[in-house]
Amino acid sequence: MKTILITGGAGFIGSHVVREFVLNYPETKIINLDALTYAGNLENLKDIERKSNYEFVKADITDAKHILEVFEQYQPDGVIHLAAESHVDRSITNPLDFVMTNVIGTVNLLNAAKTIWQDASTGSAQDFEGKRFHHVSTDEVFGALGDEGFFTEETSYDPHSPYSASKASSDHFVRAYHDTYGLPIVMTNCSNNYGPNHFPEKLIPLCIHNILNGNPLPIYGDGKYTRDWLFVIDHAKAIDLVFHEGKNGGSYNVGGFNEWKNIDLVKELCKQMDEKLGKEAGTSEQLITFVKDRPGHDLRYAIDATKINEELGWKPSVTFEQGLSLTIDWFLSNKEWLDHVTSGDYQNYYENQYN
Ligand code: NAD
Ligand code: TYD
Repeated sequence: MKTILITGGAGFIGSHVVREFVLNYPETKIINLDALTYAGNLENLKDIERKSNYEFVKADITDAKHILEVFEQYQPDGVIHLAAESHVDRSITNPLDFVMTNVIGTVNLLNAAKTIWQDASTGSAQDFEGKRFHHVSTDEVFGALGDEGFFTEETSYDPHSPYSASKASSDHFVRAYHDTYGLPIVMTNCSNNYGPNHFPEKLIPLCIHNILNGNPLPIYGDGKYTRDWLFVIDHAKAIDLVFHEGKNGGSYNVGGFNEWKNIDLVKELCKQMDEKLGKEAGTSEQLITFVKDRPGHDLRYAIDATKINEELGWKPSVTFEQGLSLTIDWFLSNKEWLDHVTSGDYQNYYENQYN
């Protein structure tokens, strides 16, 4: 039986990727490796946790010895690496956590894959036949755009936040293992995701949570910062496609051609929330509050997803309005999930962030 090890599978995007693979490939064993940090939650996978081709392993990717033991035990044919510290604001407060998980953790995984896949006696490229390491990265490595233009796969790296610097570094290590040791790799650089199970420290779920609780909707700076939003299930499908059909050594940009200024996005969210909650139009918008800007805030991200579209036939399956509506509906039907993830440390984080 083929085995694929997915890291960060208890997190937001990872849980959708695990579900996509467990359900689509019943003949493949899917190992979900996750340290269960504040962002990891096995509740995200309740619906598939009893499937016979699914197994969870608790492990921290910064622990090289344990990671190698897990690789030796399960002998994965493929790795899809999503485990990361993922929030820009947290990276500004604690950059070293991001170096440890995103850089050192990625190198530990590359070393473990190289060790179990490479026959030490020959060290030849044939040793890697049928193997693949898929690194999941972000468009933030490319830096900030002005009012025009798009990030392509050829755009130079120019990260600004400790988060994007750590992801850029991990991307470089993944390419270095391909170029130096012949490790078979593919990479995806995706734009901002949204959807079910999104942790409420990020803009969209934070605003949904705050509207439900009548709390302010904090907009950094003037709110004109622009992001390109993609429904998380479309990202999971892109990962499936690139993992199976992407060219060895290649990278693919993934995005929805769906740019929104933060302020316009939050107003659209308020409009949909008012309708769904049966409130008078304009009620939730009154919660919008402009707050101090994020230091080093990137003005605009926008992905040119032509390559993945033309080479692999991928395109988003839902419009933003549809995706946002599905997302709000999910949060409204999963208030227990929201209560669960916003208990404990969340309140401390939130108070430090905005007070
Ligand atoms: P997330 O923060 O929701 O989840 C991260 C997961 O990684 C959690 O389950 C956490 O427990 C796990 N993890 C963290 N540190 C770990 C460690 N040391 N060892 C093992 N597991 C650990 O993140 P996300 O938003 O789902 O992002 C997943 C990946 O996709 C990340 O690599 C991120 O850089 C990338 N990405 C995210 C977005 C986005 O919009 N969220 C966009 C593009 C790319
Ligand atoms: P975020 O969801 O943190 O994603 P990223 O920083 O990876 O793009 O933020 C999306 C945009 O929303 C970004 O421009 C920062 C802004 N933002 C706010 O204005 N207020 C908030 O409370 C948060 C969390 C983000």
